[in-house]
Amino acid sequence: MIFYYSATGNSRHAAKRLAAALDDTAVSVLDCRAESRTSFALPAGEPLGLVTPTYFMGLPTLMSDFLDALELDVEGEPYVYLVATFGNFSGTTRAMTAKALKRHGIRLAAAFGVRMVDTWTPWFDVSDRERALRITREADTRIDDIAARIRRREEGSYRLRTGPLLEARAIHALWRRGRSTAPFSVSDACIGCGRCARECPSDAIRMSEGMPVWASSTCAQCLGCLHRCPVFAIQRGPRTKRHGQWTHPGERVG
Ligand SMILES: Cc1cc2nc3c(=O)[nH]c(=O)nc-3n(C[C@H](O)[C@H](O)[C@H](O)COP(=O)(O)O)c2cc1C
Ligand code: SF4
Ligand code: SF4
Repeated sequence: MIFYYSATGNSRHAAKRLAAALDDTAVSVLDCRAESRTSFALPAGEPLGLVTPTYFMGLPTLMSDFLDALELDVEGEPYVYLVATFGNFSGTTRAMTAKALKRHGIRLAAAFGVRMVDTWTPWFDVSDRERALRITREADTRIDDIAARIRRREEGSYRLRTGPLLEARAIHALWRRGRSTAPFSVSDACIGCGRCARECPSDAIRMSEGMPVWASSTCAQCLGCLHRCPVFAIQRGPRTKRHGQWTHPGERVG
């Protein structure tokens, strides 16, 4: 079983590609949450995979909430691996996952990193389509390599590119405390389709007179609303407009 969280399709694509290569099943943690499913039975000998983006040098809140609530019925010690997707540095994502699993008595045996397009567009530019597609093709090669390592039940860390861990911990803790929706805005280009409100995993957006309004002061900061808007009407701060939108071309997201 492979559990994945994904806002813009990168991690979903990685999970699906791994599932196809390993003859396994990829399950969205957002679907589990919608169905209030927290208990799962893992057949003996079956590996457990976790695929997640990196958010500010650590685990996205939606993935760590899922891991905190997870109840796993399993015989013996399963082979458990993490695949962290990231744009630059995965920071403490492995350490946070290992800690969350340890609380349930589960050992994280392996952690793999896959560099993909960085969707944090308040800082990073995804507008060069050729570059983004090149990164995406290279990621597929890495995912196939990781599948081979999982088949061999390799342990340890591979291609995680953590960066300095002390700083990563501080950056992640600060980000968790913030996560304000105040920087979001919507332009007149909005056609009132309501997609952003329907698909927000934090239920932070409400439609009012045909336009989205941020009804919660904080959210998961996944940027799904910004990247999936059909007319690119949502921005977060002054730079996202020129940095462009990204959803993985192989995935229907949302
Ligand atoms: C809120 C947020 C924070 C992010 N922080 C990091 C980060 O600290 N390091 C990094 O390398 N990439 C970071 N990224 C980029 C994502 O980890 C990367 O693009 C990931 O593949 C997106 O996965 P998804 O398309 O499955 O949602 C961040 C993206 C978002 C939306
Ligand atoms: S997804 Fe975009 S166009 Fe649709 S309601 Fe939201 S902002 Fe408006
Ligand atoms: S408001 Fe936008 S960025 Fe925040 S959780 Fe909802 S979809 Fe994600």
